[in-house]
Amino acid sequence: MSLVSFWQAPSNIAIVKYWGKYGIQLPCNSSISLSLEAACTQTKVEVLPLSGKGTEVHFYLDGERKESFETKIWTLLHLLGDDCRFWKEHSLRISSSNTFPHSAGIASSASGMAALALCLLDLEFKFREQERPLNFFQIASSWARLGSGSACRSLFGGFVSWGKAEGLNSSLEEGAPLPFQVHSVFKGMKDAILLVDQAEKKVSSTIGHGLMVDHWFSERRFLQAEAHTQRLLSILKEGDAEGFVELTEAEALSLHAMMMTSASNYLLMRPNTIAVIEEIRAFRKQTGLPVCFTLDAGPNIHLLYPATIENRVKTLIDNLTQDFCLGKNLIDSMGTGPVELNSKE
Ligand code: DP6
Repeated sequence: MSLVSFWQAPSNIAIVKYWGKYGIQLPCNSSISLSLEAACTQTKVEVLPLSGKGTEVHFYLDGERKESFETKIWTLLHLLGDDCRFWKEHSLRISSSNTFPHSAGIASSASGMAALALCLLDLEFKFREQERPLNFFQIASSWARLGSGSACRSLFGGFVSWGKAEGLNSSLEEGAPLPFQVHSVFKGMKDAILLVDQAEKKVSSTIGHGLMVDHWFSERRFLQAEAHTQRLLSILKEGDAEGFVELTEAEALSLHAMMMTSASNYLLMRPNTIAVIEEIRAFRKQTGLPVCFTLDAGPNIHLLYPATIENRVKTLIDNLTQDFCLGKNLIDSMGTGPVELNSKE
């Protein structure tokens, strides 16, 4: 049987950060992220007959074979065990592309693993000749998690949680959308990604998570994250834009503080990261507008702001892009989650 599955999944930016894991990709604290709209990965998995060498997995990014990714895909396939077995009698040709440029400062592992998990799960059901169950996206989320932790939040739109805590529908194994409507002030939230530095990641996230194991501050950090999760739920319900600003920046700085204070410490912020942070804070003080920054495990700034003040923030974005950010930015916003694409494309 020759079959194809083709899915698009979004990137996400965490507000409460996942940093520290144990067991098989389980998070040490709960996290909450915002799924993006424009920054997505599109992945097509074609199932081919077995080769003489047994199952072969070929991965292509923008048409170019990337063997380094194939190792990660094999790890995921083995972790899935008997839950995903159609590939054992076939070979796979996986073609992926991102809707954002490689240099946009957006990690593609979350969107990439989410799109791949959707294709694999879809194919598994097709081979078993079973209908997709109602919890299809939840299962895909738990599969994506095995590829990359933060990927399990890319299976849903809007604000998404991962981990177990009061008021969340997610678990340690899978992400879930927040179980309430967020206040209108946060609907269509904007994320301007300001590119401070294009260099490849200096330290992988997996190494970074590992450094939390014997970290002096890890226990307090995990408690802080849980407290922030609870506070963020109230902020999102009540429409507390100022509370959002304070919490989002505290989380970003805590994440980087963990890196700076781990046994083998490292620093991912660049001088222009700090310069942009200072400018954002000065702009906020001057205008009173609820703009704030967050960072993932890198030097680039995500400038978050409500869609309603888009016009007033434009000049700030233009100035920061020109003065500190290699003239490059990508303005994205809250997205609605994965989309199944036409596999004949
Ligand atoms: C800083 O999900 O990339 O972006 O599970 O090892 O693949 P692995 O790590 P990854 O870690 C992301 C960490 C973060 C914060 C977050 O997205 O919550």
